Amino acid sequence: MFFRKSIIALTGLFLCIFLIVHLSANSILLLPEETARGLYNSYSTTLRESPLIKIVAYVLYLSIILHVVYALLITLNNRRAKSKAYAVNRNKENSSWTSQNMGLLGIMILLFIVVHLANFWARIKLGMGEGVGLDANGHVDVYEVTYSLFQNMYYVGFYSLLMIPLGLHLHHGLKSAFMTLGFYHKKGLKFLAKAALVYAAIMAIGFGIIPLIVFLK
Ligand code: HEM
Repeated sequence: MFFRKSIIALTGLFLCIFLIVHLSANSILLLPEETARGLYNSYSTTLRESPLIKIVAYVLYLSIILHVVYALLITLNNRRAKSKAYAVNRNKENSSWTSQNMGLLGIMILLFIVVHLANFWARIKLGMGEGVGLDANGHVDVYEVTYSLFQNMYYVGFYSLLMIPLGLHLHHGLKSAFMTLGFYHKKGLKFLAKAALVYAAIMAIGFGIIPLIVFLK
């Protein structure tokens, strides 16, 4: 059990770091159009062409898979154990809604990632679906892909609303990861809980507001 929880915690922390980098890159979209297009496309091209980043990308995909698989295994295991052990489940009285529904929140985020990868990654990296043009510098116009997607209010709603489960999942997940890895001693408890809250709020609001601002641009 400890091994499984540690895998979830370590891959989760790595995914949290990825989200900081991803949000920083996506905040370029908030700049005036001409600056944003050039910067976003050259940043995206540099990443795609770097051999080091290619390795990091494979670690990222593996982390997502391991995080999901081990979380599923633990959830199923817990369900089985609970239904056998107690006629009355007292867990609800001692834990938050978020902690009891991490699996549901995780499935919502997984749904988001599948749609998101189909929107961007499959088009840009695998060349699937509608073709992607080049900008004035000859870079793949990732800005245009993003901009045109966020002209559709259904996608804007989907991207922005699903940042609520993402924020809840990150808040509880980070606190749990610190505990699993043994960082959660009494002195640091309040600080880490606050740090997790601030981190989750920045990620949810940051990712959630970008599609809205691009839509209104
Ligand atoms: C405003 C919201 C977001 C925008 C505009 C956005 C944009 C993008 C773009 C353009 C790419 C393709 C990059 C490239 O290949 O050049 C990408 C990849 C990706 N995004 Fe996002 N993203 C957003 C939110 C998120 C969130 C919230 C998550 C995770 C929960 C996420 C996870 C990923 C992953 C895993 C990839 C594949 C990484 C790779 O390139 O290998 N994104 N995103």
